Amino acid sequence: MSEKNIQLALFGFGCVGQGLYDVLHHSEVLQADIAKICVKDPSKKRSVDDALITFDKNTILDRKDIDVVVEMINDTDEAFNIVSRALKNKTNVVSASKKMLATYFEPLFLLQEEHGVALIYEGSAGGSIPIIRTLEEYYDNELLSSLRGILNGTTNYILSRMELEHKEYNEVLADAQREGFAEIDPWLDVSGADTLYKVCLLAVHAFGVILKPEEVLHLGIQQVSFNDIRYAREKNLRIKLIASAAKTENGYRVFVMPRFVRADDELYKVMYEYNGIEVEGAFSCKQTFTGKGAGSHPTGSAVLSDISALTYQYRYGYKKLKKLKKQLGDAYSTTPLLETDFAIRVYVRYENQDQLSLLDIRHVVEEYRSPSMNFIIADVGFQSLYVLKDNAQNTLFVCAID
Ligand code: HSE
Repeated sequence: MSEKNIQLALFGFGCVGQGLYDVLHHSEVLQADIAKICVKDPSKKRSVDDALITFDKNTILDRKDIDVVVEMINDTDEAFNIVSRALKNKTNVVSASKKMLATYFEPLFLLQEEHGVALIYEGSAGGSIPIIRTLEEYYDNELLSSLRGILNGTTNYILSRMELEHKEYNEVLADAQREGFAEIDPWLDVSGADTLYKVCLLAVHAFGVILKPEEVLHLGIQQVSFNDIRYAREKNLRIKLIASAAKTENGYRVFVMPRFVRADDELYKVMYEYNGIEVEGAFSCKQTFTGKGAGSHPTGSAVLSDISALTYQYRYGYKKLKKLKKQLGDAYSTTPLLETDFAIRVYVRYENQDQLSLLDIRHVVEEYRSPSMNFIIADVGFQSLYVLKDNAQNTLFVCAID
């Protein structure tokens, strides 16, 4: 691949695709040409030469002169079809589709092994932060105990502007969409689902575990109000949507939910569309990585870096995953890796007392009732929080607290 310019086939030309197009044209080192861009909608006007555009994926997937398929589309199943077909054709792939990667992780891992090809996806988590390669390479021998982070730019942007500018939730969500931070379906952002896919991917590289995204709890920020933000400010706290993944004696505690973060926490300072990831290892102790987590150019730059890595034959070694698979043998696919039987301290703002009966409340630490707001702080059985997941009727705001 090194003597001639590498030939790229792009699938999708939305926010990330256009970002990649721009950063690629500013790159002074990478010798790459876009051979074709495959898009879905013929009626959309695009800012590139029409000759580059095709609507037929087969015309590029069958081309022998394509070195790298760059997949950046929104349709999860179609993305999986394209990526798996490219891998079967022994074409290296760069992808930024976190939902597709997390949903189909196991078959994609097996395809890479079977066909000896690379699928790399730095742009799928943490935006511009080089976290996947860091977990994979730098921490390849380190016993990581936990990983926590703000992995969604849209929700961090919404919470930051609500707090600092007193802007309404819907107004700032619309701004996040305009800025190109939000997903086409912003429910993915605000419900915590996007964060969940990202933390599932990071868990593979941090601990070697493949989690089923549908089994991991995600609670979002849809119900956050100025009352909650005011409560946080009075206590010198900030509300952040946090992904947590920790290794315990019994497995892995992995979940996504809002959390009141203390002012001495590194993640407290991570604002607007920035992401922050704190990794803790037995010997390295805590390290925090921050950077722009969403937006066309930051994500495009992560994709560009992956394309560049392929020019020196980079691929993930999946050392931790392979080690765990070997250790557990057949039990790898049947052993429940997720630990859900524990209590967690949460703040729950509610409208009427009946709503609290949904939760397995084990110990109430504080209770507050007034005409404008009611909340309790209590230790609750973690499993009971699953009733709130994906529940559009849910009007409780649940936020983890120390
Ligand atoms: N919608 C995502 C976010 C884009 O806001 O973080 C980057 O993955």
